[in-house]
Amino acid sequence: MSAKVASQTDIDGMRQAGRLAANVLDMIGQYVKPGVTTEQLDRICHRYIVNEIDCIPAPLNYRNSPEAPPFPRSICTSVNQVVCHGIPSPKKTLKNGDILNIDVTVIKEGYHGDTSKMFLLGKPSVLAERLVRVTQECLYLGIAAVRPDATLGDIGHAIETHARANRFSVVHEFGGHGIGKIFHDEPQVLHFGRPGTGTKIEQGMTFTVEPMLNAGRRHVRILPDKWTVVTKDHKLSAQWEHTILVTETGAEVLTLRAEEALALPQRAVGTGS
Ligand code: MF3
Ligand code: CO
Ligand code: CO
Repeated sequence: MSAKVASQTDIDGMRQAGRLAANVLDMIGQYVKPGVTTEQLDRICHRYIVNEIDCIPAPLNYRNSPEAPPFPRSICTSVNQVVCHGIPSPKKTLKNGDILNIDVTVIKEGYHGDTSKMFLLGKPSVLAERLVRVTQECLYLGIAAVRPDATLGDIGHAIETHARANRFSVVHEFGGHGIGKIFHDEPQVLHFGRPGTGTKIEQGMTFTVEPMLNAGRRHVRILPDKWTVVTKDHKLSAQWEHTILVTETGAEVLTLRAEEALALPQRAVGTGS
């Protein structure tokens, strides 16, 4: 998987994990309302992941570096100027106008499904709404660039071009990743780049595309908790993520939700079979 080519068993496992991760995002939507805390959203997702769909929440106790403590919650909740890896907290109450990313990764029978979406609370600013929309368009354009013999640079270029055309910046420090039995595997999938450069894309690869766009400058800072990534200039940031499988002709979106089935080119929506 990931950089390697998936077997039919791997593909079946990844389809199942992807579908279940998408189900978590579908389930949590009804609870995302002003007044709820991000900790409450984490508890609801944790219970659903463990008890309803019989999965493991991959973020819980996950370590990405020897210096950082293990991640203490089951999902990431990133509000407004938080770029990614926000830690759910009883002190973070959502309010009208906030934009929130919920990032879910589940493990089912050893396979990972990783996906995130943005939620708008009440009526955010016109700028916030546009940032959220353009970031989702960047995700879809990145996925549309996926096909055997294209390169990872083609994905990055598609994303960066659309972000720049809308005068948003692309975060450089974090990218998509190979995924399968391992959460974060090779290759790294940058959200910027030059066409025709980087790793060649091959049928059977499984990786994520997860662009982070900022309303201001691209630079980020990590808070003293060693996890929370924020914009240096405190301006808004948005992110959307899917896990995809490279098919003979393009990409199959393993974490697709019913609400977005019409937004992607048809070849990305099918079961690939
Ligand atoms: N789900 C994130 C990603 O898309 C990674 C979160 S790691 C955590 O790669 F430990 F912060 F949860
Ligand atoms: Co990811
Ligand atoms: Co994720």
